[in-house]
Amino acid sequence: MSIPRMAAIAGLLLVSASSARADGAATFQAQCAKCHGEHGKSDTAISAMMKVPALAGDAKVAGMTDAQVAAAVKGNEKHPPTVKSLGDAEIAEASTYAKGLAAAK
Ligand code: HEC
Repeated sequence: MSIPRMAAIAGLLLVSASSARADGAATFQAQCAKCHGEHGKSDTAISAMMKVPALAGDAKVAGMTDAQVAAAVKGNEKHPPTVKSLGDAEIAEASTYAKGLAAAK
């Protein structure tokens, strides 16, 4: 195994170890649910105002890797600074949770 590959894997292990205690569901409810709805159904007043598409049942998001969802969350121009300033671990946890909602019906 090459050194860069080993370093990458070591980095991944570090990230997952430090984010293990971050709770994706709690982060989602605190940071994302006001727009995306508690169950990803975009059923809040803000969802209606911003025309937020439902995450639940979104095959595109369900088919993305966790890393792609995290990148989409960070890169989305409609996401407020409160979302973009979250730590990588929190974004990763919330993104994995959002992906789970997308896979649900
Ligand atoms: C202020 C409202 C708001 C908040 C807060 C918010 N979102 Fe979004 N989100 C949106 C809107 C609006 C879109 C649709 C963007 C578009 O149409 O381009 C979206 C799109 C998405 C998408 C789909 C991206 C894609 O490329 O299809 C994902 C996944 C997502 N949000 C996850 C999250 C997560 C996870 C959080 C919390 C960390 C969050 N959002 C917080 C408003 C919000």
